[in-house]
Amino acid sequence: MSGRFKTELDEVELDEAGLVALAQRLAGRLEDGGVIHLRGDLGAGKTTFARALLGALGVGTRIKSPTYSLIESYEVRGLPIHHLDLYRIAAPEELEFLGLSDLAVARFLLLAEWPERGGDALPAPDLIVHLAHAGPRRRLRLESETARGARWLGILSGQTSG
Ligand SMILES: Nc1ncnc2c1ncn2[C@@H]1O[C@H](COP(=O)(O)OP(=O)(O)OP(=O)(O)O)[C@@H](O)[C@H]1O
Ligand SMILES: [Mg+2]
Repeated sequence: MSGRFKTELDEVELDEAGLVALAQRLAGRLEDGGVIHLRGDLGAGKTTFARALLGALGVGTRIKSPTYSLIESYEVRGLPIHHLDLYRIAAPEELEFLGLSDLAVARFLLLAEWPERGGDALPAPDLIVHLAHAGPRRRLRLESETARGARWLGILSGQTSG
């Protein structure tokens, strides 16, 4: 993908309510689907971000963390949604069991925690969400990798502070 789609929002420090609010704003742009990688250490807020996003999209059921199941799937208004947590993946080949290759043809939304463990077996991201511990809060940096991701960030920019 061309480097010109690489845009970044200024890093922000957010409490949990702020992180949730940002994820909720992003959710409103995802009706066409896409791929979001959630990067950060244990406890950095990846599931919190994903849950807020899924909730805002209208995933009605209790939103489970895929920590043990590896994948939790939903469908909202015809959009298939997959929430992955690859922490327990030992090798990218294990991803084959999740049937992700089916995703290549369809419109879908993919949220992946620990994407670095999926290697090339995981679809490339439109957006990378970087989360890091910052005392009682979290540092968040958003980085787009595609035109779609850049469009999402364009809509979000200027709304991340406060
Ligand atoms: N912005 C924030 N500020 C402070 N605490 C937060 C923030 N976001 C999430 N937390 C808290 O941090 C803890 C860990 O969050 P979460 O489970 O989302 O992390 P994670 O990155 O998914 O971790 P794992 O790598 O284990 O899956 C939770 O108790 C959550 O309430
Ligand atoms: Mg998690």
